[in-house]
Amino acid sequence: MSVASPAYSFTPPKRNSLKHIPGDEGWPLIGKTLEVLADPKGHVERNSAKYGLVYRSHLFGETSLVLLGPDANELVLFDQARQFSSTLGWGRILGLLFPRGLMLLDFDEHRLHRRALSVAFKSEPMKSYLTELDKGIAGRVAQWKAQPGPMLLYPAMKQLTLDLAATSFLGADIGPEVDDITRAFVDMVAASVAVIRRPIPGTQMARGVNGRKRIIAYFSEQIPIRREKGGEDLFSQLCQATHENGALLSTQDIIDHMSFLMMAAHDTLTSSLTSFVGELAADPEWQQKLRDEVTQLGIAADAPTSFVKLDAMPLSEMAFKEALRLKPPVPSMPRRAIRDFTFKGYAIPAGTMVGVNPLFTHHMPDIWPEPEEFDPARFTEEAQRNRHRFAWVPFGGGAHMCLGLHFAYMQAKCFARHFLQNLSVSLEPGYTPDWQMWPIPKPRDGLRVILKPV
Ligand code: HEM
Repeated sequence: MSVASPAYSFTPPKRNSLKHIPGDEGWPLIGKTLEVLADPKGHVERNSAKYGLVYRSHLFGETSLVLLGPDANELVLFDQARQFSSTLGWGRILGLLFPRGLMLLDFDEHRLHRRALSVAFKSEPMKSYLTELDKGIAGRVAQWKAQPGPMLLYPAMKQLTLDLAATSFLGADIGPEVDDITRAFVDMVAASVAVIRRPIPGTQMARGVNGRKRIIAYFSEQIPIRREKGGEDLFSQLCQATHENGALLSTQDIIDHMSFLMMAAHDTLTSSLTSFVGELAADPEWQQKLRDEVTQLGIAADAPTSFVKLDAMPLSEMAFKEALRLKPPVPSMPRRAIRDFTFKGYAIPAGTMVGVNPLFTHHMPDIWPEPEEFDPARFTEEAQRNRHRFAWVPFGGGAHMCLGLHFAYMQAKCFARHFLQNLSVSLEPGYTPDWQMWPIPKPRDGLRVILKPV
């Protein structure tokens, strides 16, 4: 597969051509960037109250449009007319560290690569990943149980997610290099959301670029070994994956896809599992409902979680979905229009940067009454029946819909099973966790919880 740049180019539209869209571009150069960083949810809510569901803003050095609500999500994410480029949207943010990750490819080329990667997410390999996740989670929960009391949830969850990724993505026998690879990878992920976007020495971005070099060296050395030996982990699966014509993915493709997959999984799982447990800590009733569900699975405390048992956890799935509604790990998604289009009566020229916003849509009170309340019952079949199919989009939708969605549910349910079977979780009276919602939701103070064995 060739390493080609997209077949289309773009010129950002002249400023005047967006003047008919209501909005406010803020200060010269910095535009609205600082306001968005300070309070992303409040900023969008204030603007939508003032301007409606389409408005003009100036973010990260460019005039762009924010398109809000389920119809906007459907137009941009489902993209029936193939007029929104993800390469030219996400590329500005992730292109330096994760070039040619799946989400950064477009249209026909994207479809070919997505099909090749899909083999790694079929049920047989997923069962192998579950075996590793299960062992790792059981071991960690046992450690937490041995030291009950106060704990900072976010860093503990981050470490767990990293350790689980090392075994399920790279293989249980990765060996002593694991710490070095993990550090390189953490540097890349941190750099992907760094404010300074150039690799100036001493910055997070420079550490990220060095991390990428280390990861490239590791994968390049390992690919021939994995091709020969095989293996059950995700990396070994990709080393065997082929295109439609039977050709193996190239070394460069595997490097790009693996780096991206690890990034796509890491912060999203850390964020969502933290908010999931945080909500259960604040809601003892739902916590007990989920614990009862786990008990009814009838799995002995020291027995592994089987793949089929995960289907018998509908309440846990609903609660996880509700956590994803409240704090979507990808709060906004960028695209660039490659053709002129219209939305809500506005003509919008090719080249315009647009963003859709799950965080806003997930809190629209006409769709989600009392939007700040945690209520997993919003996800019963009945409650969902008449809801717009793009009202809940934590995993996106359309061609780029998250490829790791089932992996995420699997890890969440496996975690719920071990955690709730062994521990109860609560918050100190009067304590409200303080979340930062952008670029990826994360509790500023780490989220203090209290664990007790059950
Ligand atoms: C709760 C956890 C997760 C959330 C909320 C999440 C969210 C998302 C979203 C919103 C997108 C689409 C972005 C867009 O269209 O602009 C996406 C894409 C993707 N995600 Fe996830 N993700 C999660 C976990 C994972 C995991 C565990 C993996 C891998 C094992 C993964 C792999 C991917 C890949 C490969 C894509 C690109 C798909 C494509 O472009 O075709 N994600 N994810």
